Amino acid sequence: MSAATWQVCAACGSEISETDPHPRCPRCGGLLEVRHRPPPQGGHALRATFDARRGVWRGALASGVWRFIEAVLPNAGEHILTYPEGNTPLLTSAPVAHWAGSPALLLKHEGLNPTGSFKDRGMTVGVTQARRIGARAVSCASTGNTAASLAAYAALAGLPALVLVPKDQVAAGKLAQALAYGARTLLVRGNFDDCLELADQASERLGVYLLNSVNPFRLEGQKTIVFELLQQLSWDPPDWIVVPAGNLGNTAAFGKALEEGRAWGLIDRVPRLAAVQAEGAAPFASSFRSGFARLDRVTPHTLATAISIGNPVSHERAARAIRETNGVVTTVSDDDILEAKAAVDGAGIGCEPASAAAVAGVRRLVKEGVIGKTDRVVAVLTGHVLKDPATVVHYHQEREPRPARANRPVEIEVNLAEVERLMRG
Ligand code: F0G
Repeated sequence: MSAATWQVCAACGSEISETDPHPRCPRCGGLLEVRHRPPPQGGHALRATFDARRGVWRGALASGVWRFIEAVLPNAGEHILTYPEGNTPLLTSAPVAHWAGSPALLLKHEGLNPTGSFKDRGMTVGVTQARRIGARAVSCASTGNTAASLAAYAALAGLPALVLVPKDQVAAGKLAQALAYGARTLLVRGNFDDCLELADQASERLGVYLLNSVNPFRLEGQKTIVFELLQQLSWDPPDWIVVPAGNLGNTAAFGKALEEGRAWGLIDRVPRLAAVQAEGAAPFASSFRSGFARLDRVTPHTLATAISIGNPVSHERAARAIRETNGVVTTVSDDDILEAKAAVDGAGIGCEPASAAAVAGVRRLVKEGVIGKTDRVVAVLTGHVLKDPATVVHYHQEREPRPARANRPVEIEVNLAEVERLMRG
């Protein structure tokens, strides 16, 4: 292809144009990947361009996604639809670092995006691409956050949205957002993997543009989590980037960002990736243990509903990301997730259960000596604490035996003496 940006099928190698509307390879149904010709100016100049834009307050370049437009979708031009998103903080927290046993731990808080999760970074690009190709409606299957993000960005774009979510397995905040932003919401009596299969078929039958992370343009946006955190570290890469893993879109996107970052001269060293799954939904972790020889499927069960996925769609490309970064895949139990979450929440930072899996993963990998005690580690908090209020309330108010960090509320009569007694006690 002579264009600066094009799409390649990861399965059969077919090349199609950047504005081809198929969400999968039109020849073999394989997953597509966006390719960019390396920007001509070289790494130093590109870094300088990205850094200069940090002072921009208005327009697309004020977005923490579109600030990196040369590495995302250089020809998006007037089609760009941005909230704006990104520009999330890279936090230090002594109590969280202490809990994880990783003194130099930093937290990249993607829950501070417009709809409360990292999905907005992919969705601004996905909906921009939907506008470029003239899509009449957009759709997704979701464990909740993608649905919330799609619903919002579709509403911003004035496009109808269809979301398919597993009934009774979506956290309250996320379902509320999908409804509030006006998406046609289907509560499917099945799990996420069933929803994705159905959304895939329905989008083809109905001619609706599919915006799951199957869609390669979503991943181009999610790469900017890595670009932005590298920029926040003055382009001096950490030793590790740790991310919770479900459908594996983020793991794949991070691998691509690091590969391009090195090839284009943005960084001279690649951090190791650690993908963390919940024990009850860990097909990628068991595949990792077999050297990725097997592709496993499971029936998922975890209270971290965002990552309750048994048949991750980006398995192949995420495996490549782990291999190429000398990365690892590990698991954490639901109890570990709740404890990590209580540590993050109690430090005043807050995150949803799936995000806490990353922090629990850091603790496990430090204990096992995989992550060194003095290593510089960035854990990605993928979603906001208010996404899943039921889990928080249950943990603090009802869980038995009472967890060490439970903050039990106390009910009283309208009576000052009672307040005094409780405060003194
Ligand atoms: N953390 C949160 C908060 C998520 O919502 C998700 C995925 C992940 C981590 C895992 O990311 O799939 O790229 O490996 N949520 C999707 C959804 C599946 O539908 O909202 P992944």
